[in-house]
Amino acid sequence: MNSTDTVTLTAGGPLRGEIVVPGDKSISHRALMLGAAARGRTRIIGLSEGADVAATAGALRTLGVPIHHAEGALIVEGGGLHEPTAPLDLGNAGTGMRLMCGLLAGRGHLVVLTGDASLSARPMDRIVEPLTMMGARIESRSGKAPLVILPASLYGIEYVVPVASAQVKSGILLAGLTAEGQTTVVERTLTRSHTEEMLAEFGADIAVDGGRITLQPGELTGREVQVPADPSQAAFWAVGAAIIPGSEVRLPKLDLSSARTGFIDVLRRMGAHLNVQSDTLHVAYGDRLRATDIEPGEVASLVDEVPVLAVAAAAAEGTSTFHGLGELLHKESNRLEAVWRLLDGLGAEAEIRGNSLAIHGTTQFITASSNSHGDHRMTMSAAIAAQLCRGPSILTGVGFVSTSYPGFFNDLAAAAGAERLPSVPA
Ligand code: S3P
Repeated sequence: MNSTDTVTLTAGGPLRGEIVVPGDKSISHRALMLGAAARGRTRIIGLSEGADVAATAGALRTLGVPIHHAEGALIVEGGGLHEPTAPLDLGNAGTGMRLMCGLLAGRGHLVVLTGDASLSARPMDRIVEPLTMMGARIESRSGKAPLVILPASLYGIEYVVPVASAQVKSGILLAGLTAEGQTTVVERTLTRSHTEEMLAEFGADIAVDGGRITLQPGELTGREVQVPADPSQAAFWAVGAAIIPGSEVRLPKLDLSSARTGFIDVLRRMGAHLNVQSDTLHVAYGDRLRATDIEPGEVASLVDEVPVLAVAAAAAEGTSTFHGLGELLHKESNRLEAVWRLLDGLGAEAEIRGNSLAIHGTTQFITASSNSHGDHRMTMSAAIAAQLCRGPSILTGVGFVSTSYPGFFNDLAAAAGAERLPSVPA
């Protein structure tokens, strides 16, 4: 990926129309991994086209899993996870690496996991530690990639996840498939439930009781997976429509049933005109948004949407405070700092106080010029903010949008009107 590519965006008219965002990234990673571990064939329809998910598919191919396209679907021939002869490169994908650790820790192979500079700076000890408690042997320098998984036999444990993290929960559950005895994961704060739901669909013996999930080891069976559109990508358009006068967007094919819809609640509280009809989110510009507070207990339900919600708060009347943002330090960039920098350029005063961010809304954005710092969600948030800036915004490192949403700038151009297309220079 070319991380130095630049676009210049100027403000323009409203965002309008229907935008079908890419397949859900979280569900796509899981569909590939469960399909690879399962007996028989898994057919995946609507897989995310992003580079993160492609890296997971590539890693599974390196493990000897046949994966091919047929009749509009991706076919995974499961049941054969072999020892690889090369390192698995998970690129930018935290979900890919943490879940892969769990998937592979108990399969008796020697596996090296690597990633790009951003992924190699992110903490992996949060998954290595519980897997080590299960008997896994995973080597690293100071808990970061590259990781070396050595052959080991696992046993089930009961583990209370110390940080709200669906990736940690999921890695442990995937390891539990190959462990001796049952594995129990306890969450104090509920996080996205895709792994436990999909494990059940693939035939695992799993029970969920509030935040307590118990899994028996065993085989999975391949199946068909329909991947819904990704609510985390829809959030960019929802915020855009809520802050750009005259906008009206329709975002279909979403799965709005799991713990991923915190951004909808927040935008509602801010006064956005937004409604949900079955799998479709409609958002129309109404009035200027009002400030709101986000409490720590809410963050897990909108953890990936904080950057774009910060843009909404920057456009809102009054001071918003987002609490409990500690996990943002460990995302594709230090997002707390990156968000602060974006807000500063916009001219919305913001202060970081510990893990909280106070944002004073402004009526006129100055510029969204920024560097992605290797972070797809920062680029997309800046691009939405740029639509309201009084001057041009120069965004560098925009190629990173392909991590999760390769068609983002095309969709922006289509929704915003072709006459003010952002030009992508050579
Ligand atoms: C994800 C969980 C979240 C989220 C990430 C996807 C997942 O990470 O930020 O984009 O698919 O499980 P954490 O588990 O670190 O909170």
